[in-house]
Amino acid sequence: MEKTTSNNTFKNVDVDMSNLLKLPESGGSSYYSGEVEKTELIKWAPSFSSGIKKVDDQHKELINLINDMFNHSSGDQKKEREYFTSIVHQLIEYVKLHFQTEEKLMLATNFPDYKEHKTEHDSFTLHVISVVKNYTGNNRLTLLDITKFLKDWVLSHVAISDQKYFVYFRKIAVRGADGKLKITRESVANMRK
Ligand SMILES: [Fe+2]
Ligand SMILES: [Fe+2]
Repeated sequence: MEKTTSNNTFKNVDVDMSNLLKLPESGGSSYYSGEVEKTELIKWAPSFSSGIKKVDDQHKELINLINDMFNHSSGDQKKEREYFTSIVHQLIEYVKLHFQTEEKLMLATNFPDYKEHKTEHDSFTLHVISVVKNYTGNNRLTLLDITKFLKDWVLSHVAISDQKYFVYFRKIAVRGADGKLKITRESVANMRK
């Protein structure tokens, strides 16, 4: 008999995996858009997708922020610093929000590599803060240096580390009566058995 999700969906975590239906069986890692264009340093690719709308939307927003930084790297130091000062708070807060979202999902679903993943998030947050301090402390870093650092980290993290919990989520998702895939308390409990 097909499993249903009635009364079993998490109350405090949004784990609607309806995007999963649109995904290929396994994600690749081709995340570069080929020729790098000035207007779009990173292009969203289906292989990034987790199947969870909230996570996908946050990854897209992070990519937008990095692309925006790329488009503001003009070589004009004064303009670059003005721009960076105007977005740095938003950038750091958004990174923190995204990490919190992922960590809540991992805890709620009993993801076995939670600690390892959280350590990666924490060390990246500290690294970003120190890079920002270096930049604002007037050393030789440019906006393009920061953009490249963020791009490399975000892409490799999404393509490798985040993929691990995407795979786990797909494993424990169950199909509800409405035909959509969801993670439920029951599916998490079954995983523990
Ligand atoms: Fe992520
Ligand atoms: Fe992550």
